[in-house]
Amino acid sequence: MGGWVTVLAPEQYASWLGSQGEGESLATSGGKLFRALGCSGCHGNSSKVRAPGLDGVFGQPVALANRQTVIADERYLRDSILVPNKEIAAGYQPVMPSFDGLVDEAELQMLMAYLKSLSLQSPSFPAAKNEAPQ
Ligand code: HEC
Repeated sequence: MGGWVTVLAPEQYASWLGSQGEGESLATSGGKLFRALGCSGCHGNSSKVRAPGLDGVFGQPVALANRQTVIADERYLRDSILVPNKEIAAGYQPVMPSFDGLVDEAELQMLMAYLKSLSLQSPSFPAAKNEAPQ
């Protein structure tokens, strides 16, 4: 029964994350967050939710549902996480929840470092990115 829950202020949490594994890179911490926050549950390979693959997304043009195209720069990635309904990737449903208030600035930086580190070469997400919905 019961148990202890450690509640950390965001800054403490960030420094705790930062202290996990000596010299762990931002991208590695971001990868852990990506799983811990459930991002991978939708964006991963075996997801039942249709969500765009994020490999190599950074710096690439993204077709939006409103027929505009934007470059997936830091601004775009940040807004995608904090205000996901602002720009909907073409062919996808706006089902991504906002992580505003759930991640702090340090964690956002880690997530973005992780997203940037995902290589275009990775085989996990083939060219299905902006495919039309079924
Ligand atoms: C409930 C499922 C779900 C979860 C959880 C989720 N996403 Fe998403 N995400 C989506 C869907 C669906 C889209 C495409 C529609 C849109 O643009 O909102 C998307 C879009 C994105 C995009 C824009 C991708 C592109 O090609 O334009 C990024 C970046 C992103 N998500 C990152 C994340 C991160 C980081 C997390 C965790 C903090 C996360 N997502 C959690 C479903 C999800």
